[in-house]
Amino acid sequence: MIHIPKPEYSRRRKALMAQMEPNSIAILPAAAVAIRNRDVEHVYRQDSDFQYLSGFPEPQAVLVLMPGRAHGEYILFCRERNAERELWDGLRAGQEGAIRDFGADDAFPITDIDDILPGLIEGRDRVYSAMGSNPEFDRHLMDWINVIRSKAHLGAQPPNEFVALDHLLHDMRLYKSAAEVKVMREAARISAQAHIRAMQASRVGLHEFSLEAELDYEFRKGGAKMPAYGSIVAAGRNSCILHYQQNDAVLKDGDLVLIDAGCEIDCYASDITRTWPVNGKYSPEQKAIYELVLASQEAAFAEIAPNKHWNQAHEATVRVITTGLVKLGLLQGDVDELIASEAYKAFYMHRAGHWLGMDVHDVGEYKVGGEWRVLEVGMALTVEPGIYISPDNQNVAKKWRGIGVRIEDDVVVTKTGCEILTKGVPKTVADIEALMAQARTQAA
Ligand code: GLY
Ligand code: MN
Ligand code: MN
Repeated sequence: MIHIPKPEYSRRRKALMAQMEPNSIAILPAAAVAIRNRDVEHVYRQDSDFQYLSGFPEPQAVLVLMPGRAHGEYILFCRERNAERELWDGLRAGQEGAIRDFGADDAFPITDIDDILPGLIEGRDRVYSAMGSNPEFDRHLMDWINVIRSKAHLGAQPPNEFVALDHLLHDMRLYKSAAEVKVMREAARISAQAHIRAMQASRVGLHEFSLEAELDYEFRKGGAKMPAYGSIVAAGRNSCILHYQQNDAVLKDGDLVLIDAGCEIDCYASDITRTWPVNGKYSPEQKAIYELVLASQEAAFAEIAPNKHWNQAHEATVRVITTGLVKLGLLQGDVDELIASEAYKAFYMHRAGHWLGMDVHDVGEYKVGGEWRVLEVGMALTVEPGIYISPDNQNVAKKWRGIGVRIEDDVVVTKTGCEILTKGVPKTVADIEALMAQARTQAA
């Protein structure tokens, strides 16, 4: 299995500590367990920030970084070993495992945190935490601070600055290391295989969830524990619903099916969309829209390179799509004016992409000092233009209505441009039709 190597977690902690102010402390909780119903839990997914700094997969844990602490800078509070609980719920690292396998300098039982953590915070000037994202943890943090304040008359010194950790940490997460790109390439490879399998399985009369099952099969077979987000399998007019999740309609002859799905490997997401005809052959209108979206995506790739800014790729898609919609008669008027008045938004209402990483819509600022961020090597993003012609759009000829097309790939900025991580899935009309025709011949 491809995964983030252990030493990388230690490098990340050191890099973060190097940016923290002198005499400070950073405190981060693991993700809470979420109840699904009664005593059934949702599949556990570690918090991305916590995972980024620790690689520690368990709930009920708190990570503490104390740059310059003589007895060790990295402290992990976690569950104790417990033979009975482990028999029911699975193995725990315990404090020994936290030190031996996860590089902690010191580890304590999570049940002792109220007794120990105030003493660690005491005397530090500044506390870094993910303020606001976990209100229950924020309350705990204030309780610990108040323990120190209550002892001020004994000379205890509470910290007087509280800083959001996000700014430092999320900027680090924005730049992907070679090891991260390797994991993302693997997630992309498996997801590409999943889309190919769904294309091959596509038949009139199946349900959207039948294709979702094909995706899930490849995700799991490839070693992914779960999709990076709820898979969108949207046939016919459902393709015009951007975040469609019902996935229970029948695949009809003459319909397109839009699939937006990607798996997660070692907490790194992939995010792919392809749109193909259920019956294996695009109609002339579907083909025209599809090729326009594809041309806009190609134009966007050309705008992704170091020193180009974040919005250039989006602007490229807007220009190609607006020009194309005018040529097809779906928009009327001057292209520059239609762009200025955002007339294209009736058909293309989202942006061309987002940062991609541990979160599918990953962290990282899109603007710096009010200006679009300039791209740099190692940044990962999606490129996902689309055209959606509402089934209810009375301003266009009937033959166009209900066509929704999105094409989405994942890229990493390189020295000379970008690497497309998801290029394993066919994308041209000819290639998709050939793949689908071949699958039908083999099945016959
Ligand atoms: N799958 C969500 C997105 O494409 O942004
Ligand atoms: Mn997507
Ligand atoms: Mn996306």
